[in-house]
Amino acid sequence: MNVEPHYQNIDLKFADTEIPSGKTGWRSPSNIALVKYWGKKPVQIPQNPSISFTLSNSYSETEVSYSPASSGKPEMEFYFDGQRNPAFEEKTAKFFQSLSAIFPFVNQLRFVIRSKNTFPHSAGIASSASGMSVLAMVLCDMERQFFGTLQNDEDFRRKASYMARLGSGSASRSVYGGVVIWGETKNEPGTSDFYGFPVNDRIHEIFSDYQDTILLVDAGEKKVSSRVGHGLMNSNPYAGERFKQAHENLSELLQAMRDGDTTTFIRITESEALTLHAMMMTSQPYFLLMKPNTLQIIQRIFAFREKTGLPVSFTLDAGPNVHMLYPAAIKVEVKQFIEDELVSFLSPLGFIDDEVGKGPEKIL
Ligand code: DP6
Repeated sequence: MNVEPHYQNIDLKFADTEIPSGKTGWRSPSNIALVKYWGKKPVQIPQNPSISFTLSNSYSETEVSYSPASSGKPEMEFYFDGQRNPAFEEKTAKFFQSLSAIFPFVNQLRFVIRSKNTFPHSAGIASSASGMSVLAMVLCDMERQFFGTLQNDEDFRRKASYMARLGSGSASRSVYGGVVIWGETKNEPGTSDFYGFPVNDRIHEIFSDYQDTILLVDAGEKKVSSRVGHGLMNSNPYAGERFKQAHENLSELLQAMRDGDTTTFIRITESEALTLHAMMMTSQPYFLLMKPNTLQIIQRIFAFREKTGLPVSFTLDAGPNVHMLYPAAIKVEVKQFIEDELVSFLSPLGFIDDEVGKGPEKIL
């Protein structure tokens, strides 16, 4: 893998007689993008910057035991929800091996990973964001513990975000709490294509505890993988304009979030969600990921907003479920709205109440 020289460090290796055994654990959340990352260049470089809310209740919790390996490459057992999972095992072992230039010590260890998510797998919530960011926290934590590097929290998070990005682009944003940008953004020093950058300092307080109720319309699996989806943008005839628009949307949205301007926030986040789906609908092959009930809910949100004047809006992931976004101050009204008008459009999984969260946490 192509690695920035800054993150290559051949010294991060144990002496043969000093390979440790032990255990560590982290919890890391998913996030919901407001300006979407959809389209990338090698290796894991976004075609446009994205911005997200880190979530609070939707997270992965992962315990990692390590001991000396004998094969000269990362050895792995992966248990997901208590069951050994050969697919995750192979994927994670390969991923760790690809990180050899960044964390040479992974080749010296055997890992037993036990992971679970607080949200149902079939809910279509981006589990790669929480799953990859949690592994990044674990490896950076081990580096800090055994090699004395990454003592400074900023260095620690930045390297974790860098590594998380290599696993899944959106995971780079989950390493930080609150509002996070991934991708170089005009007039925002510190933003980078290589890692996420939190921008909470100047965000208006209304967005600091924004709510995200995830309305689960369809409990089925996602129909298009991120890998395929991003790839489709390489030949989408509208891609160039879309990438340009995302830059403009991000700048305008960020300003609105600094001003506490919910009207602009609603206009841009909803347009971003519909544009993401429009990109999928105009790709070859094309994908239509909204379901009839996705549209029913969106129409109800429009009507509710019109009737009450309350700042309730929606965004979508690459799937049929609707993320309903609103300020904490109107929780009661929105709960009633869900009960009165939306529950009949939901799958048996119902909905997940989430909100802006603080980012990863060490649990072991
Ligand atoms: C629609 O981060 O899952 O959720 O880098 O290939 O792992 P990979 O893609 P991934 O793509 C996320 C796409 C999105 C928008 C977003 O989160 O920005």
